[in-house]
Amino acid sequence: MDTALENFYSLYDRRRSIREFTDRPIEGEVLARLLRVLLRAQSAANRQPWHFVVVEREGRDKFNELFYKEGFRNAPVVIAALADTEAAWVRKNDEKNYAWVDVSIAVTEMIGAATAEGVGTCWIAAIDPVGVKSTLGVPDNFDLVGVIALGYPETELLHERKPRKSLEEIIHYGKW
Ligand SMILES: Cc1cc2nc3c(=O)[nH]c(=O)nc-3n(C[C@H](O)[C@H](O)[C@H](O)COP(=O)(O)O)c2cc1C
Repeated sequence: MDTALENFYSLYDRRRSIREFTDRPIEGEVLARLLRVLLRAQSAANRQPWHFVVVEREGRDKFNELFYKEGFRNAPVVIAALADTEAAWVRKNDEKNYAWVDVSIAVTEMIGAATAEGVGTCWIAAIDPVGVKSTLGVPDNFDLVGVIALGYPETELLHERKPRKSLEEIIHYGKW
């Protein structure tokens, strides 16, 4: 395997949820690169049914009260990811709305880029969506898919690795 390919696969190996951050801010150019990744993400019928609110640490006191875990309060940047279900593609057969899928894809791509940049992330679903939306002034018709905490990780946490199911448990060849 060439080095570029090895680096690519090692990204997935390196990524883990980070819940404690150092005080180091995320440099402006790094954050700009991460946000541009959101633009390039794929979405059903290219509807791009997403909005993101970027909230820096400065002046985040009220928002910080919404976090259950202390460590997230120190994240230099948090991003609220919002789904616009009215703009999203809907599958006719079963009327499934793809807004949450599309937002999740964009966020996942950004998390991959963050990992490559050495920036740690944690996807936070366990947060009061009404509180987040009212604190950030998000219109009612948007769904909060998650809040992503970003920052440079406390290094010892990089060794933590959560177990995974085996391939045999989850992959079905040919039929279930
Ligand atoms: C959709 C989603 C929601 C999550 N919500 C939370 C959360 O509310 N709080 C938290 O501490 N971690 C949350 N996580 C992180 C998961 O707990 C974590 O991804 C999982 O335990 C595997 O660990 P790893 O990310 O370190 O590989 C969430 C992850 C995903 C993908």
